[in-house]
Amino acid sequence: MSQSTIESILQEQRLFSPPPELAEQAHIKSFAEYEQLYAKAKADPAAFWAELAEQELDWFEPWHTVLDWQPPFAKWFVGGKLNITYNCLDRHLKTWRRNKAALIWEGEPGDSRTLTYAQLHREVCQAANVLKQLGVTKGDRVGIYMPMVPEAAIAMLACARIGAPHTVVFGGFSAEALKDRLNDAQAKLVITADGGFRKDKTIPLKAAVDQALTNDGAPSVQNVLVVQRTKEAISMQTGRDHWWHDLLAEASADCPPEPMDSEDMLFILYTSGTTGRPKGVVHTTAGYNLYTHMTCKWAFDLKDTDVYWCTADVGWITGHSYIVYGPLSNGATSLMYEGVPRPSNPGCFWDVVEKYGVNIFYTAPTAIRAFIKLGNEYPQARDLSSLRILGTVGEPINPEAWIWYQQVIGGSKCPIVDTWWQTETGGFMITPLAGATPTKPGSATRPFPGILADVVDLEGNPVADNEGGYLVIRHPWPSMMRTVYGDDERFRHTYWEHLPPRNGQYIYFAGDGARRDQDGYFWIMGRVDDVINVSGHRLGTMEIESALVSHPAVAEAAVVGRPDDLKGEDIFAFVTLENTQSPSEDLKAELKQHVVNEIGVIARPGEIRFAEALPKTRSGKIIRRFLRNLASGEELVGDASTMEDQSVLEKLRQGF
Ligand code: PRX
Repeated sequence: MSQSTIESILQEQRLFSPPPELAEQAHIKSFAEYEQLYAKAKADPAAFWAELAEQELDWFEPWHTVLDWQPPFAKWFVGGKLNITYNCLDRHLKTWRRNKAALIWEGEPGDSRTLTYAQLHREVCQAANVLKQLGVTKGDRVGIYMPMVPEAAIAMLACARIGAPHTVVFGGFSAEALKDRLNDAQAKLVITADGGFRKDKTIPLKAAVDQALTNDGAPSVQNVLVVQRTKEAISMQTGRDHWWHDLLAEASADCPPEPMDSEDMLFILYTSGTTGRPKGVVHTTAGYNLYTHMTCKWAFDLKDTDVYWCTADVGWITGHSYIVYGPLSNGATSLMYEGVPRPSNPGCFWDVVEKYGVNIFYTAPTAIRAFIKLGNEYPQARDLSSLRILGTVGEPINPEAWIWYQQVIGGSKCPIVDTWWQTETGGFMITPLAGATPTKPGSATRPFPGILADVVDLEGNPVADNEGGYLVIRHPWPSMMRTVYGDDERFRHTYWEHLPPRNGQYIYFAGDGARRDQDGYFWIMGRVDDVINVSGHRLGTMEIESALVSHPAVAEAAVVGRPDDLKGEDIFAFVTLENTQSPSEDLKAELKQHVVNEIGVIARPGEIRFAEALPKTRSGKIIRRFLRNLASGEELVGDASTMEDQSVLEKLRQGF
C-alpha cells in the first residue's frame, strides 16, 4: 500500500449503520444479534456449526463427530455423507425454485443465457455422465481451463457430482503454468474451450492446452473435452480431444450424486506463496459447503428474490465460493459475466446491473478504482436503483474508493461488505453482515461468527488495540484448507509454524498484517511476506524471479511490489544480465514477454531495471527492503551496514 493510503486508513473515523429498512428484513438484523451469535459460536464452536449443518444442508448420512482436530489437520462432520451438488441443485428441484433462474449468463459480445435450476441440474448430470464415459471415476482429478461461460460452472459441478476433484486454472495463465498445475494434480482429463472473449479479442485456450500437452508435457492427461465458444479454428487430436456438445447431446440426464464422505476432496486450487512453486490448496466437501453457504447467506443477506452478481472469474477462489457453490447452495440466482470494462464498453458493468436488475454486486477495489478514473458519467447514465448491497474483496480498499462506491454506485443506501479472506480459508473470515454490522471505510470490520481472529506479535502474543501485528486465526473453521496437495509438511510449515504453538494450541498464520481498533474492528494492512497483490491477483515474487532467470540472458533477478494507484501494487523487477549480454529496451520487452509465457499476462512486470549488481548481505541474501524503497521512490529505510558492498546501492540509486 502507498504511504498516502496507509495514512488515510489510519485517520478514518466514519461509521455507517445498515439502513433500517434493510436491517429489519435481514437474516441477521442487528449488531446485538451478531454479537450474540459470535459469543455463542466462541463458547462452543462445534455445537454452533453442528446446529447450522443440520438446519442448512441435506445429508445422505449423519456425521458422528463434529470436529476431529489433530493440529494442524482438521476433519469436520466426520462420518457424514453428502454431495455438494445435491445441496446446490437437487434439493431445490423439489421446491418452487425448480424453475427459478440458477445462473444468468451474459457473454462479452452480448449473447446471453439463463439456466433454471432444473436446466442446470440436467446439464450437470449430462456432463457428469460424459466424464464417466471418458473414464473419470471418484477421486480422479480433472483440470478446468475455461472462459467465463456457464459450462465452466457446469464442469465444476459435474466433477463434484461424481466425486472427481476439480482443479480450475484461470484462463489468464499460460500454457507453461497450466502444465505445471496439471502435472502437480496429476489430472486425468482437461475441460477447456476453443477460446474465450476478452476485451474484444479472443484468447486461444485450446491452443494453450495443446502446447501444455505437447511432447508428453502432462502425461497423466488422457482426454480433453472442448466447449465451443469462439468458433475459431482449432486442432482436435483424434482419440484425445472431444467436443463437449457432441458428447453431451448423447448423454443421459440421469446421474445420481455420488455419496461423498464429509472429508472427501472437493477441489484443489493453486495459489502463490512466499517460496517455490504454487501450492495446491485442498478443500473438502462438507465443511466447505456449510461455510460458503452460511457466509453467503449472512454477509450478503442473500434472499430468494435477489439477483446476485460476483464479478470474479471462476478460476479464483472467489468464483468457486461465491459464484458457484455458496449462492447455488442457497438456491440463489447467480449472475456470470464474461466481459470486463474495456475501451469499447467502459459502462458494461452498469449495463449488466440495469439489464438484470442486480441486487447484490461484489467486486474488487482495483475495479472500483478503475471506475473512478473512468468518470461518474457511466454509472450515472444507468439505472442502478436495484442495488441493495455492495461487496468488495481481494485487497485493502482505500477509504476514498469505499466512499465513492457507496455514494456513486450504491446511491448512499447500500451497505459495503468488505470481505477479508483467502484461497486457504475457503470463505469470508472478517466481514460485515450486511444488515447488522456498522461499517467503517477501509475496515473489513469484525470476524464472522465462529472465527477467532486475532492480531499478534512474532511470539504469538496479542498486541494492544491499534497496534500493528500479524493476523492469525485461533480455532479451526469448517472451510479451512486441509493440506497442500501431496505435501502435508509444506502445509504445516507455511501456515502453522510461523508462530510457536502456545499451550499446545496451534494458530493459523494468514500472511497479512493487521490492526484491531478499540471497537474490535480489523484493518488489513497487506501481505507481510513475499507475496504481491496486483489488481487483486496474488503472485509470489519468487515465481516471477524464477521465470526471469529461466531466460538465458538473465543472471539474477529480484522482484518487489511497487504501490500503484490502480492496481494496488505493480511488479517491479531488478535484473542483472549474463556477461555476454548488454541492456536494451528490446531485451526488456523480451523479458516481459518471457514472464507472460512462463506464468501468464497477470504476471507481466510493469517495470524492469537492469542493474550491475543487487544489494546483498554478507551471506549473499538479496536485501529486498532497499529494492522496495527504491522502486517506490521512498527514502531507504533500515541499516545498510550488513551489506556486502555499499557501492551497489549507490549505483542503483543513481538510476532513479
Ligand atoms: O492479502 C489479503 C488479500 O488477498 C489475500 C488472499 O488472496 P487470494 O488467496 O488470492 O484470495 C483473494 C480472494 C479472497 C489476502 O491474504 N485480501 C483479500 N481480501 C482482502 C484482502 N486484503 C484486504 N482486504 C480484503 N477485503
